[in-house]
Parts: sequence; C-alpha cells; structure tokens
Amino acid sequence: MSKWDARLRVVEPVGTTPVPPRLREVPGPSIPVAKSVAKLNPYIPVSSQPAIEALRGRTPIFKLDWNESTIPPSPKVQEALSHFIAEGAELNWYPELGSKNLVLALSDYTGLHPDYLIATNGSDDALHLVCASYLDSGDEVVIPVPTYNHFVTFAQSRGAKITTVCGEDPFDSNIPAIRKALSKDTRMAYLVSPNNPTGVIYERDDVEALCKEFPNTLFIVDEAYFEFSQMSVISLVREVSNLVVTRTFSKAFGLAGLRVGYLAANPDLSQGLKRLYNPKSVNTMGQIGAIAALSDLPYLNTYLDEVATAKELLRAFFQTRPNVEAWVTPANFVVVRVPNVGKVLDRLEGLGVYVRDRSSYPGLEGCLRMTVGNVHQTQHVIDRLAKAF
Ligand SMILES: Cc1ncc(COP(=O)(O)O)c(C=O)c1O
Repeated sequence: MSKWDARLRVVEPVGTTPVPPRLREVPGPSIPVAKSVAKLNPYIPVSSQPAIEALRGRTPIFKLDWNESTIPPSPKVQEALSHFIAEGAELNWYPELGSKNLVLALSDYTGLHPDYLIATNGSDDALHLVCASYLDSGDEVVIPVPTYNHFVTFAQSRGAKITTVCGEDPFDSNIPAIRKALSKDTRMAYLVSPNNPTGVIYERDDVEALCKEFPNTLFIVDEAYFEFSQMSVISLVREVSNLVVTRTFSKAFGLAGLRVGYLAANPDLSQGLKRLYNPKSVNTMGQIGAIAALSDLPYLNTYLDEVATAKELLRAFFQTRPNVEAWVTPANFVVVRVPNVGKVLDRLEGLGVYVRDRSSYPGLEGCLRMTVGNVHQTQHVIDRLAKAF
C-alpha cells in the first residue's frame, strides 16, 4: 500500500458498538428552553462522515468539506502527547488553569503581551464567550453575509437583533455597505477574515477606521484562516479597546480534534470576558498539543507552502473548464460555481470527493466550497475533478 493509500481521513468501522437501551422513557413535557433559544433550529452537523464510513476500504477518500488540515499535525504534537501518556497520563487533575503556558507560547507567536490573550476550547468557544459576555436581549449585531453561520446562532441565543449586510459582490469586502449598516446603536459586528466561504479579507486600515468611527461597537474579527493568508489585524488590539480577534488551532495547525482556539483583546475588554470565562476550558491534552504545534513553525510553514502551490494547481485546472467559475481564496479553500451544482456534488461524492454545498448562501448560487490540501493530495484530487467537471 502506498503512502497515498492511507487515505486523508481514517475512520473506524461503524456498528461494532451496541447501542445501549434507554433506561427509561423521558416523560414530557420538559422544561421549556430559554425564549431566545426556542427560536433557534438545532444544529444539524452536515458531515460526510456516514458516507465516508460506508465507503471505507473501497476507495481512498478526500474529505474536503470542513476546511481542516488534510495532514496530521507536527510530529512534535504526537511526541508531546505520547510523552504525557507514558509519564502517567495524570488526567485525574484539572488542566492548568487559564492555560498559562499555552498563553505564554501564544504571546511569543502573536507578539502580544499575555494579558491580551485568552485560550479557549476552539475558536467557537471564543465567539460564544464574547456573545455571552457582551450581548443582551435586543442588542443590534451587524454581520456581513455570506459568512460562518455558527456565530449567528451564538448571537441569536442572546436574543440579539441581527442585521445582515449583503453587498453587491460577495467576493468584495463591501466596506461602504457595512459602514452604512453600522450606527452608534450597533452593539457588535462580526467580520471573518479571510471570510469563510468567500475568502474576503478585511484590511487593517478599514478595520481600524471602523473601530474608531464606531467606538460603541464591539468588532470581532475571526481569523480562523489567518495562517494561510498571513494577513492580520491582531496588533490593532493594542490601539483600540473595541476589537476582539479570534483564532484557532483547528485549521493550519491540524488540531481540529483537540479543540483549541484563542482570542486577543485589549485588557479593558478581556476583563469583561474573564467574568464568564471558564479557566478549565482547554483540556490538558489540548494545551500540550497546541504548545507542541507552536514549537514547530517550520512544519506549519511547509504545509502553508504546499497549500499555496496546490491552490495554483487548482486554479490552472479550473481554467481549463469553460463552464466553471473558480475563486481561489487566501484561505485553504476554493469556491467553485458550476451550471448544475447538484449533479456535480453527486458525481464528486461517487468519486469519493466530499466538498461543501454552499449554493444556498446569498450571492453564492451554484457554488460549492472545497478544502485545499497538500500538493500530492491535490494532484490526485484533480484526477477525480477531471471526471466530475
Ligand atoms: C470562520 C470560522 N470561525 C470559526 C470556526 C470554528 O473553529 P474551531 O474549530 O476553532 O471552533 C470555523 C470552522 O470552520 C470557521 O470557519
């Protein structure tokens, strides 16, 4: 078996663990959920996992639907975790409170003083913490769309009033339209940079100007894909105290399974966040893994170079397809518009290539989003794309 045959995502066989019978039926009616939550639909994780499991063993799988890294993290992560296990795996103790050592490592990585940094259980946890700490019912939140929808749920769960901004071109930052939607009453605004799924970048000058023009508004810049773009506003948190930048280890660092993220904010703001922050939120293995990942930036950089080259291969491939429009984003994904997206998705799935349907997003009719992996993987992906496009 070649190295490539060890597929992108190895999954265990299903059906080996018997499902335990319910101990008793749950009597209804249950206690009603909070009013702000009752309006929300349950999160249905759209995932290729069941299909991947069904295909297991028959064909190599390309799991390109969640923008994870397509290779395992630095070997230093495995070494550090193995060492922790070998030394007795003292998981009986709570993790280091406030992820002190991880925050110190992040301080080196970001160039910010530790007082500006809070480690979280994935960056979703950071987004949730900001909403829980700074939103009350009825507060106005401005969100340019299309974007990462999970934040909308967090804001709605606080009873916030959401104003979406849909500019004429979804692949433009549409700053004038955002500015128009903001007012002195806007409590919060959420900008993803590079944006998922369009790859739009919010430039530092624009973010700085907005923060200064709307001092009553807390701006969140979600930089989950920063490493791929190398464009950041994080140093702005030193200058303005109405900005939170969130980041994650789930993407370029390849630690999605460990759930580690962080936020950066002026201490004025983070004092507010620390009222609700749970200092136990990053588990011990997560802290160890993230510190080890930060200790191997050459590994990260090699992967970033690979993804950059692979994006060019994809760009060249899509240029050979006259009916296809492709946007190669500054993140680790491309957006592709095709005449019949449903058919293409089915064909790709039949070929073991799992991508994300984004055609219901405003401005993205007919579009799918596809994660970009390393060069070797992408060459194989292109062989299959050639059969589907
Ligand atoms: C823009 C954006 N923010 C946040 C997240 C969540 O990342 P995490 O795994 O750190 O919770 C994602 C995941 O896809 C994302 O695309």
